Parts: sequence; C-alpha cells; structure tokens
Amino acid sequence: MNFFDTHAHYNDEKFEEDRNIIIREIKENNIKYVTVVGYNIESSIKAIEIANKYDNIYATVGISPNDLDSQIDLEKIESLAQDKKVVAIGEIGLDYYWNKENKDLQKDIFVKQIEIANKMDLPISIHTREAVYDTLEVLKNRIKVKNSGIFHCCPLNIELIKEAVKLGFYISFSGNVTFKNSKNANKCIEAVPIDKLLIETDSPYMTPEPYRGKRNNSIYVKLVAQKIAEVRNMELEDIAKITLENAKRVYKIVD
Ligand code: NI
Repeated sequence: MNFFDTHAHYNDEKFEEDRNIIIREIKENNIKYVTVVGYNIESSIKAIEIANKYDNIYATVGISPNDLDSQIDLEKIESLAQDKKVVAIGEIGLDYYWNKENKDLQKDIFVKQIEIANKMDLPISIHTREAVYDTLEVLKNRIKVKNSGIFHCCPLNIELIKEAVKLGFYISFSGNVTFKNSKNANKCIEAVPIDKLLIETDSPYMTPEPYRGKRNNSIYVKLVAQKIAEVRNMELEDIAKITLENAKRVYKIVD
C-alpha cells in the first residue's frame, strides 16, 4: 500500500538536522510521493533543491499570504516554476487569521500567482484561513484557474467544500480531521467526491491524533487516510490508492 503526502514542508528549518534521515524513513514506510511546498522565495528554492535530490519528491513554488513582508518577487517565482520537479504554484491564497491589515494586497498577489500558474500550465495549492468568502470570490469572479488546484489543509467548512468542488478543485485533508474538537470532520469528509479527495500532513505542523503536539512527518499521513476510511466505510488500501491517483492527476505526474 502506497501513499501520496500532497503537502509537506521538508524545507522548514525544523528538518534541518535530520532531513535526509526522515526522507529515507518515510520512503521505507510506503510514502511513495511527497510534495514539498514553498511559501516564500527562500523556501521555494529549498523545495526545488530537495525535490531534485530525491526521485519521489516534488516541489511547489509560491508566496503565501503570511509571507508578504518577505521579498515579493513574482518574476523569480515564475522562473523557479520552470524547474522540471515543480508541480504547482503554492501555497498561495488568503489568511485573515494572521493578517487582516493587508487584504487587498493578499488578493492582488493571489491573483498574480494564479496568472503565473495559468501561464506555466500548473495547478495551484491554496491556503485559506478565516477568508472563505473572499477566497471563493477571487476564484469565481476575478480569475479563472486553468489547471485546477488543491484546497490544502482544507478548513472544515461544508459550504466551502461544496463550492470548491463545484469549481473543480481538489480537497486535501490533514491531521485537522483527526482532532477531537473538529466537529464537522465527518460531514466534510463525506462531502468530497472520491475523485477529488487528497491527503496531506502539512509537516512539521498539524500532527494527527494521537501524536498531536509532536513534529509531524509524512508517515502520519496514514492516520489521516485511516480516519477517512473509517468515516466513508472503505478499506484503508482503497483510500491510499485513490488519493494517490488523484494526486498524480492534479499534479500531472506521470511515471
Ligand atoms: Ni503548508
């Protein structure tokens, strides 16, 4: 049984000491593919470096809404996106939980990076937090996303999921669905068409129960898959296989 962790940050400094060891371990534990996601210029460069070192690792490049005080060099993002291991532009989007003061700038940079994705024929990885309405507004009215995309660590908001699916997006669940206080998890898991379902860890964050609080790694994506299998009354093996195929489809990975 093989898994695809569609969103992890092995470019994070929390993996500086033991990155190579962890990446070897996850491979030995049936994590067949991982996408390492950038969130500013530096982490995007690092994601590409890691992806080029390991066959089973892919990268994304982008500037997240929480990194707009770093260098906003969109030409650099576009040039980085030409690397053959880059499979998406992201993580990009809106975050009014951490940043309420610059909503217009967030929307502007989100739109501009979607333009890059469209030009480069890549999907997008969307980060949205406390900004559901505006995120959907951008995607519906401001720019059409050419190559689909992923609501990463998707908020457990049933209306958002329904609208996102209607727009053709994929929904990626993380450890958030295993948390004891996540009331809507089951309903949200059931609301996603099986061909739009993805799993991720968002390592080193969002560690699933019962390891919440520890540093996350891609092996724990199995706990997310396990939760989905229980809720949907399916075999873990089928969830693994379907989510892996879905991830290869959205990221256009052929092997
Ligand atoms: Ni992330």
